[in-house]
Amino acid sequence: KVLVFFVATILVAWQCHAYDMFPLRMNTGYGARTPEVKCASWRLAVEAHNIFGFETIPEECVEATKEYIHGEQYRSDSKTVNQQAYFYARDLEVHPKDTFVFSIDGTVLSNIPYYKKHGYGVEKFNSTLYDEWVNKGNAPALPETLKNYNKLVSLGFKIIFLSGRTLDKQAVTEANLKKAGYHTWEKLILKDPQDPSTPNAVSYKTAAREKLIRQGYNIVGIIGDQWSDLLGGHRGESRTFKLPNPCTTFSSSFTSQQSSLLPIYLYVIRCVQIGALASLYVVSAVCQQVM
Ligand SMILES: *[C@@H]1O[C@H](CO)[C@@H](O)[C@H](O)[C@H]1NC(C)=O
Repeated sequence: KVLVFFVATILVAWQCHAYDMFPLRMNTGYGARTPEVKCASWRLAVEAHNIFGFETIPEECVEATKEYIHGEQYRSDSKTVNQQAYFYARDLEVHPKDTFVFSIDGTVLSNIPYYKKHGYGVEKFNSTLYDEWVNKGNAPALPETLKNYNKLVSLGFKIIFLSGRTLDKQAVTEANLKKAGYHTWEKLILKDPQDPSTPNAVSYKTAAREKLIRQGYNIVGIIGDQWSDLLGGHRGESRTFKLPNPCTTFSSSFTSQQSSLLPIYLYVIRCVQIGALASLYVVSAVCQQVM
């Protein structure tokens, strides 16, 4: 009987343990996950476009976001994506109109200095303050994007910057790009805020790409940190590359979602269910032996 109890305990423990395959830890009884773990899951879901259109990051993720940015992970994630874009480009035969389209903020220029001052995205985005920051023209380059940009330029690709920044920021944007090390480009496309035909980021970027294709450009790659940079039509034969953005995702044409984390109790219930089933199984086995 002691042996049976022992086996049953192991069985239950093993079944629960199987849930470690999910980003969950059952080792503190009721499956308490640390904010780091929960926020890493949240960030993955954001990057994969399962969570989008949120206005602020969850409050409990401020510390984790800060650590992500200032630790090694953000840079490494950025490097991995840029590297893949380069590996793809390196193997292409380059024609004169072959083009890589880059977004600007969060892609070639870092807006982390702005978010650092405003709670890493936990404060609601304020376009007045953000514009003030943009107009200073001091945004640093995202170093891994700059490296990739230099390689693409030397491979012979045309570079087109397609940004949600408005036309009034042309001069400051050009100066900022140069200052950050982006020394050449084919075109810098900014948004006309009066144009009613492009009410959101996806339609604006789609229309701009359509025009580029009509002008004879062959878009082979699109690099951006927002899904609105990469969705929509007129992408030609391009591959798209999604850079990480830990602080924000602007709502595009999609309805927004609440930035809440999934409840843990569903998994706890699953574990208890499996435990109960395993016990039943053991009890019936014992009864059979007794009879
Ligand atoms: C943005 O910030 C400015 C300056 O602090 C403030 O006056 C304004 O009300 C804010 N706007 C929003 C929408 O919060």
